[in-house]
Amino acid sequence: MPHPKLFTPLELGGITLPNRIVVSPMCQYSAHDGSMGDWHLAHLGTFACSGAGLFVVEATGATREGRITHGCTGLYSDENEAAMARAVQLYRGITRNPIGVQIGHAGRKASSSFPWQGGKPLGAHESPWQTVAPSPIPFGEGWHVPKELSKEELKGLIDAFVVAAERAKRIGFDVVELHAAHGYLLHQFLSPLSNQRTDAYGHDRMRFPLEVARAVREVWPKERALGARINATDWVEGGWQPGDAVAFVRELKRAGLDFVCVSSGATVPHAKIPVAPGYQVGFSQKIKTETEMTTRAVGMIADPRQAEEILASGKADMVAMARALLDNPRWVWHAAERFGVAIDYPPQYARSRHDAWPGAKIARGQAK
Ligand SMILES: Cc1cc2nc3c(=O)[nH]c(=O)nc-3n(C[C@H](O)[C@H](O)[C@H](O)COP(=O)(O)O)c2cc1C
Repeated sequence: MPHPKLFTPLELGGITLPNRIVVSPMCQYSAHDGSMGDWHLAHLGTFACSGAGLFVVEATGATREGRITHGCTGLYSDENEAAMARAVQLYRGITRNPIGVQIGHAGRKASSSFPWQGGKPLGAHESPWQTVAPSPIPFGEGWHVPKELSKEELKGLIDAFVVAAERAKRIGFDVVELHAAHGYLLHQFLSPLSNQRTDAYGHDRMRFPLEVARAVREVWPKERALGARINATDWVEGGWQPGDAVAFVRELKRAGLDFVCVSSGATVPHAKIPVAPGYQVGFSQKIKTETEMTTRAVGMIADPRQAEEILASGKADMVAMARALLDNPRWVWHAAERFGVAIDYPPQYARSRHDAWPGAKIARGQAK
């Protein structure tokens, strides 16, 4: 059996991922005014033990108003920075594998409730806040009407992204990923469904996200890695399309970004998305082929053979997984075992290694 691509190291910017399995960013809705708490320590601890080549911390607001919910993390205060530094320190105590953070702004999708409370716009008695966007168009029926951002406010937001990236640098993250997907602020500028401005930021819809990317690139060290999560499509006629995504990625590459994660959807509530195993992988392949950018595929990837095929056939350079890794944080260990690859376990857990069990071949769960 050739050495599996999944477990082949990858150079990303100035860092090396020991394998190509990435824990996709996942909001935990458990922060206090943007600061990570005990839940995050448990969550990061779990994934520090997972063996994944990279763990990306959830969508983190560059400003307080840029959080999706009251429970989302931020990097807008010294308290946020200190709490995240504590969590990253815990992670570093368990694994040498790199860790990243996704920095974003929710724009018109901010001020909403947790998914388990409906994921709806906050009501009058739930401390809602004024949302902002390229144009005063709500995300959907019943959603807050955002305030159109002025040019001055856009400058302020670029500064906020830069300050958040500087905080991430001090914390010691290896990777920063800009959230330019899923209908959040940077993507709201890109999509004609949400950006109907008549100024320079509407004539050139890539302008604001690229200004943010260039500004962050200036402060983010070359010896670490900088990327973006992007949408390949809005899945709506008249919306953002794969050809637009190719053009955007070319510009991101020119701006010095090291990778993109290729996702889709969530720009408007009524999109019809043909969800199926690996349904976004073709977009990663297109972008990788047409731009030569390093890409990460994501979306309905759950089986180790499926993940290996995506990489071995050159459709992507990494795979990110969210739900499969939440479901089974030992996914990486088991995939390594399946492909006959030895990976580092935390020594405290080394005796769980199947090849270390007396009688492991007879039955899991019976050996002592
Ligand atoms: C609990 C949860 C939280 C998520 N939070 C984020 C997030 O913070 N940023 C982001 O870009 N995507 C987020 N996503 C989307 C995932 O990163 C991923 O793109 C999506 O779930 C598809 O991958 P999967 O099929 O492996 O779950 C989240 C998904 C889940 C399940």
